[in-house]
Amino acid sequence: MSSNRVFIFDTTLRDGEQALAASLTVREKLQIALALERLGVDIMEAGFPVSSPGDFESVQTIARTIKNSRVAGLARAVDKDIDAAYEALKVAPQFRIHTFISTSTIHVQNKLKRDFDEVLAMGVAAVKRARNYTDDVEFSCEDAGRTPIDQLCRMVEAAISAGAGTINIPDTVGYTVPSEFGGIIETLFNRVPNIDKAIISVHCHDDLGLSVANSIAAVQKGARQVEGTINGIGERAGNCALEEVVMILKTRKDLFPNLQLNLKTPEIYRTSQLISAVCNMPVQPNKAIVGANAFSHSSGIHQDGMLKAKNTYEIMTPESVGVPTNNLNLTSRSGRHAVKHRMQVLGYGEADYDLDRLYEKFLKLADKKGQVFDYDLEALMFFDKLQDADDFYQLDFLSVQSGSGILASASIQLRAGGETRQEAATGNGPVDAAYRAIHRITGYDIKIVKYQISAKGQGEDALGQVDIVATYNGQRFHGMGLATDIVEASALALVHVLNHIHRADLIARKKQEIQQEKTAGES
Ligand code: KIV
Ligand code: ZN
Repeated sequence: MSSNRVFIFDTTLRDGEQALAASLTVREKLQIALALERLGVDIMEAGFPVSSPGDFESVQTIARTIKNSRVAGLARAVDKDIDAAYEALKVAPQFRIHTFISTSTIHVQNKLKRDFDEVLAMGVAAVKRARNYTDDVEFSCEDAGRTPIDQLCRMVEAAISAGAGTINIPDTVGYTVPSEFGGIIETLFNRVPNIDKAIISVHCHDDLGLSVANSIAAVQKGARQVEGTINGIGERAGNCALEEVVMILKTRKDLFPNLQLNLKTPEIYRTSQLISAVCNMPVQPNKAIVGANAFSHSSGIHQDGMLKAKNTYEIMTPESVGVPTNNLNLTSRSGRHAVKHRMQVLGYGEADYDLDRLYEKFLKLADKKGQVFDYDLEALMFFDKLQDADDFYQLDFLSVQSGSGILASASIQLRAGGETRQEAATGNGPVDAAYRAIHRITGYDIKIVKYQISAKGQGEDALGQVDIVATYNGQRFHGMGLATDIVEASALALVHVLNHIHRADLIARKKQEIQQEKTAGES
């Protein structure tokens, strides 16, 4: 029955969930199920109903709610499991009972402590029992990857004869390599006489990092259902990452010209993000398809290539998997052209900023942060507008020492006009110490009446923005500082205030001079 349609069987809620440190609530599972339905998975395995009342309830809730994907429930090859699966699933518009038994010698002898013929009979009985409840029965030969091929062929033939419409061949322990696993599928097609009556499915684990490659090799040999999870979560090293399988089949259409899939690939990214958040399983930044860096180009050569033609370094578009923007992350290796281009994309023309100054600030920030994001560039541009190159006060140097149980101390070097001044002070924290050192340098009697700190950007890469309001001589001044280090941002905010005060002082002095000249002229 090898047609051109490849079915995607998602087991995030069963094989994926069983590996989580804390099991999900019914509500969380439903949230994931709805996302999987929106993604367009053909079948979603919602859980293992007999395993706990909580699992039963979530499978039932999902079965009742999901309309556009078939809902499956897992059952060992024992009556009570199959009956529980049916009870939980029967409310679904379309459901599948998925029953399984181990077939490898290691499992049959050590885990089941039976002989193979007994196991074969149990598998057949399980399929028949499930068939009393539904026409849609899937049978899995657990540890098929390590099952002697003659026995695997016998089991598959018997399960199909008993009425299984889908036969799943799991590489339960992620042991095989692609040529070997593809070979198993090929042998089944060559040797099992009734193989055309079933869809052959594969379910590969990632212990050797080969789950996706093995699944693809199986599809090349005629498998038409691939099982796996989003982000590859699952037992031990995880399951086959479905987003990778789908994007391989789509991106390499030249190798798989007639295969059809139902999955809505632009939903991949947000489904991945949701599952990562709900399951508290971060996605590694360099993960294929859905990692934060999957569509980021860091080196100057790559960025230059991308600006000339996207297909120089991108084999699929970020939009095709729903990644919101192409983050051309800038680094200290990025040239002025890349910075200018990014500003253009963000909607700023050359008249809006000074490219030389922005680039100089960008390089300093890139050296500290590694990657400079869009919001950093915008922040640099706006902050640059607040500061004048000819500001009287400039922060030259700042060093702080603080920690639990020690008195915080700061030493500061400020440029004040042509002069360089240094001071050190202690305080009840690093910001307090830095502020006291600055006060010593300037002698201004300033009172900080408001101090606010916020993150500019996302995650731990965010810049710290400090906003302060200070009073001096009955006047209020606002200062803002932005830096990767919040103590530095605080010092910059105070320096910003000092420059306001200095300007206000100059104006006041000028006014006084004019007044004095006037008075002198009148006398
Ligand atoms: O890995 C495995 O063999 C399984 C089966 C239950 C399908 O998860
Ligand atoms: Zn599994």
